[in-house]
Amino acid sequence: MARSGKGGKGSVGKAKRVTGKSGMRKGLTAYGDEGFSLFLRKAFIKAMGYTDEALDRPIVGITNTFSGFNACHRNVPELIEAVKRGVMLAGGLPVEFPVITLHESFAHPTSMYLRNLMAIDTEEMLRGQPVDSVVLIGGCDKTVPALLMGAASANVPSIMLVTGPMITGDHKGERLGACTDCRRFWGKFRAAEISEEEIGEINKKLAPSAGTCMVMGTASTMALCSEAMGMMLPGGACVPAVMADRLRQAEASGARAVAMAKEKLTPDRIMTVEAFENALRVLFAVGGSTNAIVHLTAMAGRLGIKLDLDAFDKMGRETPVLVDLKPTGQGYMEDLYKAGGLTTILREIKHQLNLKALTVTGRTLGQNMADTPPGWNQQVVRKFSDPVFAGGSIAVLRGNLAPGGAIIKQAAMDPKLAQHVGRAVVFESLPDLAERVDDPDLDVKADDILVLKNAGPIGAPGMPEAGYLPIPKKLGSKGVKDMIRISDARMSGTAFGAIVLHVTPESAVGGTLALVQNGDRIRLDVPARKLELLVDDAELEARRRRLKVSKPRKEDTRGYRKLFMEQITQADEGCDFSFLKPEITTRTPRKR
Ligand code: FES
Repeated sequence: MARSGKGGKGSVGKAKRVTGKSGMRKGLTAYGDEGFSLFLRKAFIKAMGYTDEALDRPIVGITNTFSGFNACHRNVPELIEAVKRGVMLAGGLPVEFPVITLHESFAHPTSMYLRNLMAIDTEEMLRGQPVDSVVLIGGCDKTVPALLMGAASANVPSIMLVTGPMITGDHKGERLGACTDCRRFWGKFRAAEISEEEIGEINKKLAPSAGTCMVMGTASTMALCSEAMGMMLPGGACVPAVMADRLRQAEASGARAVAMAKEKLTPDRIMTVEAFENALRVLFAVGGSTNAIVHLTAMAGRLGIKLDLDAFDKMGRETPVLVDLKPTGQGYMEDLYKAGGLTTILREIKHQLNLKALTVTGRTLGQNMADTPPGWNQQVVRKFSDPVFAGGSIAVLRGNLAPGGAIIKQAAMDPKLAQHVGRAVVFESLPDLAERVDDPDLDVKADDILVLKNAGPIGAPGMPEAGYLPIPKKLGSKGVKDMIRISDARMSGTAFGAIVLHVTPESAVGGTLALVQNGDRIRLDVPARKLELLVDDAELEARRRRLKVSKPRKEDTRGYRKLFMEQITQADEGCDFSFLKPEITTRTPRKR
């Protein structure tokens, strides 16, 4: 590394003016005397047993996101060891440090509520510590966007390494995977199709190894989008967590991080408009999680790039679903890995990609693709001309019920519901839903539309993955598998159904959703991209005047929650905090 430090090899800096900006000399603690600051820093780090020779190397930070609560990150310690090996082999000094971690089932009220906290933690630790580059180790849903949001804002050379997907389990000869099959079997249990004993057995087999959910949920989607965006080494998204290849990815990421420090290959050079367009193409081609839209919007926002929902919808019409994975198809991530991973997908959509986009390899996406061996016959990634689903996996809906937009994963719904007018059955909140949805006296029919309010970014708060409203027991037990459900919530990427999500503005800030009453008629027309509340404007205006403005709750008035409630933006802005975004300068996807 072309180090600019003036202390020279072995110097503790006490006799020389420190003007360097890298390694131990970077971001010195303020004591009013830079030489003393370096002297003191070195004194303390030598308590870790380092020599001056080691401390003179480029410093590669490694985010340690292990936690006893996060099974998706169970393999982080061994990944760190492999990253360190790669850094050392390439002549750098690896230094791991903790940032907070998030697991979907161990984050109250939601992991989305804490994503921005993790992003702030990442950003400030990258800015506050002397790292020349960093290997970001994440995996579980919110961790990848949080790490990349923080890295983008700190603009330190960064390379993403995911923990990798779990391998599948099995039950009575059937493959099982978290968490599409969690929901499927829970639905069967609710409909009394399987016993309490059997659901207990299944519970032990749904998450059978370290790693992230092995369907095309949010974790898999974000891993693939990060690789497509160029922030991960080629081939890094799909390697299962338990395979030796995963450790080789870690070693290679460590080695590459040393080179990136020398090249000053910062995120702003990689996370460009073109890179986000590539990520969005892949999101469509894999039939990825709806959550990815919120995360990619937030990540882009950190670079001053605005994701345009209407252009996004147009892009979806052009890029079909090619990957046959659950929840839209049949396979699991280990199948995609064996089929060649992201590279196999990129080959099929090559004509739609920005091949000149720069990546962490220092080469362009097109050059990376040219470096890979030719493909082979496989069943997981279909030909562009023979897709799993032709119409764009996610559609953006507009109308008086969602003036700021709403989305639906049309590739994972009963197509018979794509054009439907139905009667609203309204739940005012999540507690109201929990209390009444299985009430035998609930006035609900299969062709009704279930509406959930107050489950958005502010209303819940934290925009829970509650958009997958359960089918009322009285209908589920009669064999009803899908109904239209509308909310301002999100949905797990592992779920499926005719589910309208991210209704914007949300009901808690007075969006039209707040005005819906039991018995109102609602029209959903996915081909026309329409979502309309069929109530005349005068009546809606009268309802709006009667709408009670909810006062801040006691718990909203202090700490992180106060910050969240005051600063959280709506879904169409990525639910980032408003003060974390720079000025918006660019739009993506571009209108072509
Ligand atoms: Fe971590 Fe699904 S719970 S990826």
